[in-house]
Amino acid sequence: MTLSPKATGTLSTSTGAAYARILGVGGYRPERVVPNSEIIDKINSSDEWIRERSGIISRRFAAPEESVVDMSEHATREALAMAGLEAGQIDAVIVATVTHPYQTPAAAPILADRLGIQGAAFDISAACAGYCHGIALANDMVRGGSAQHVLVVGVEKLSDFTDPYDRGSAFIFGDGAGAAIVGPSDTPAIGPTVWGSDGSQWKTISQRESWIETREKQIDFPAITMAGQSVFRWAVWGMAPVAQKAIDAAGVRAEDLDAFIPHQANMRIIDAMIKQLKLPADIPVARDIAETANTSAASIPLATERMLREGEAPHGGLALQIGFGAGLVYAAQVVVLP
Ligand SMILES: CC(C)(COP(=O)(O)OP(=O)(O)OC[C@H]1O[C@@H](n2cnc3c(N)ncnc32)[C@H](O)[C@@H]1OP(=O)(O)O)[C@@H](O)C(=O)NCCC(=O)NCCS
Repeated sequence: MTLSPKATGTLSTSTGAAYARILGVGGYRPERVVPNSEIIDKINSSDEWIRERSGIISRRFAAPEESVVDMSEHATREALAMAGLEAGQIDAVIVATVTHPYQTPAAAPILADRLGIQGAAFDISAACAGYCHGIALANDMVRGGSAQHVLVVGVEKLSDFTDPYDRGSAFIFGDGAGAAIVGPSDTPAIGPTVWGSDGSQWKTISQRESWIETREKQIDFPAITMAGQSVFRWAVWGMAPVAQKAIDAAGVRAEDLDAFIPHQANMRIIDAMIKQLKLPADIPVARDIAETANTSAASIPLATERMLREGEAPHGGLALQIGFGAGLVYAAQVVVLP
């Protein structure tokens, strides 16, 4: 491409920090615990079946009036405290969610306003991979100089978008929020992101009807449903190689990891990935799904927060995180824990 003489050498560009790191994480779990026993009657299932097929024992459901913005605010305040920062020091807010109930505006500017942040604010729709997409963007923004401190939130109120009578999905989903603050670092602390998509499989996890169909067919509300077996196969066979690529791209070995924090989709998917990655048995693995279920974009930051809080993963340790879900989309990276 030939630049016009006027443009040559006259345009300033931004440069940021040498590296970026996650400075703090926080999580919010709604108060109401919903055991399997509350779900099973409507789907002709049993506590044993749900535990055996998914590893889920209970989940949290947000209160009717509790919004994704409310949950995000709680998680963010925790993450700010760990990072030792004030909200006013955040200059960009990324909210990863598929359950903010407004088509527009996004949740991020509303959250930013709540916190007194006036920086850039936008949502991303990458379902269960949303948090890892957010970390990838935040890393590049800090290093590219478009922001110094970025708030990344993964939040879902899936109870609003679940059909309680749908056998294939009613037991899987839960509500919650997780947040991370990404800022400058002198040393590398977020490895290269390995990400991609397979839109040919978009129907395997999807809102059942579009908003237009919802109006035309006078449907009450379009729930999110999934073709469980197809998603299971894709996750089990497709995602371990992605995780391995993220390990290789970071220039580390599986045995160097201090934690494996995969998306909390299904305990059997987690176990299959451990086997395929040949992870050493002493590496702690996030199993937050048992009591939190699948909270989509919130699942990885929530699991991270729990592992740090319970001392299962060390502050400053190396963690492999991988998100995958509706789209179908995925993203993985090795990070240094805050
Ligand atoms: C949803 C999931 C747990 C279902 O398990 P599965 O083993 O694939 O179940 P299937 O659909 O093959 O059904 C197996 C049997 O269980 C029964 N079944 C299905 N749903 C059931 C339920 N909720 N409760 C009880 N029985 C159920 C079926 O009728 C079938 O019975 P049959 O063998 O007598 O015909 C599994 O497919 C899964 O975890 N998929 C991935 C989901 C996921 O991770 N999604 C998030 C990705 S981001």
